[in-house]
Amino acid sequence: MGKLTVVSPTEAWLEGGRVAPRWRRRGVATALFAHRIAYAQERGFRVVRFSTASDNTPIHRAGRRFGFRRIAALRRYEAAALKGDPSGRARNADAGAIRRALGPLIQFEAGWEWRTLTVSDVRRAIARRRAFVAGRGVEAAAIIGGSSDGSLLVRAIGGKGRALRELLVALRAEAARRGLDDVSFYASGAAQRRAARSAGYRPPWTGAAYLYERSLSRAAGSPRAPSTSTPSTAPRT
Ligand SMILES: CC(C)(COP(=O)(O)OP(=O)(O)OC[C@H]1O[C@@H](n2cnc3c(N)ncnc32)[C@H](O)[C@@H]1OP(=O)(O)O)[C@@H](O)C(=O)NCCC(=O)NCCS
Repeated sequence: MGKLTVVSPTEAWLEGGRVAPRWRRRGVATALFAHRIAYAQERGFRVVRFSTASDNTPIHRAGRRFGFRRIAALRRYEAAALKGDPSGRARNADAGAIRRALGPLIQFEAGWEWRTLTVSDVRRAIARRRAFVAGRGVEAAAIIGGSSDGSLLVRAIGGKGRALRELLVALRAEAARRGLDDVSFYASGAAQRRAARSAGYRPPWTGAAYLYERSLSRAAGSPRAPSTSTPSTAPRT
């Protein structure tokens, strides 16, 4: 099986790739990639993404074959909640600066799924008191989600250096304020990993989540992507 999820009107997400052990290495996953990419292209999606573990060679190979490029290697970091000052809650006027400070993508509530971050996401997070900033003129920012199994999830984060470290420490305090056990986020790049370590965060496992992306050009005469969250006519892939 292989699933195509509609994560926004222009973005498709590939997930759930599973091939029964006795049928592996015969091109089934490759065929499922081809089918879903053609499906996304026909329906006018502009970008297709997927994530996979850094050691999942078959999926890296299939991605390369279909022209996906790796846009991030994300390493999970966790830290225990720590009493302190959870200051740094963002104000409405910060929305544009937060959008710029954060990376281009936001994670779904849990799991390895991302989609494009919009300024509406930022505004909504500010209204729900889920956006945090640090540094002068928003040098670092984060959007948090709900909690999962006692853990505070950071859905998007950006910045580096002292400001990011300060923000990560404040998020530990926010987890404590909410009565949660810990806080977790996905770090992208050496600067974020350094800030994470100096704020007391550690990776719970070795390895990373690799994020792949491929842009699609709209095929002539193809319809626009559906605006519903699930393509009702989707064949089972
Ligand atoms: C990953 C998985 C879906 C691959 O399915 P598959 O049908 O065997 O894959 P394919 O036969 O289409 O092979 C894809 C590519 O990987 C290579 N490959 C397949 N299995 C491999 C292995 N064990 N080691 C190295 N390369 C491998 C193939 O040679 C092919 O490369 P190529 O196009 O350069 O020749 C299957 O192994 C699986 O179900 N694994 C467990 C679940 C999982 O990891 N799912 C993916 C989650 S993101």
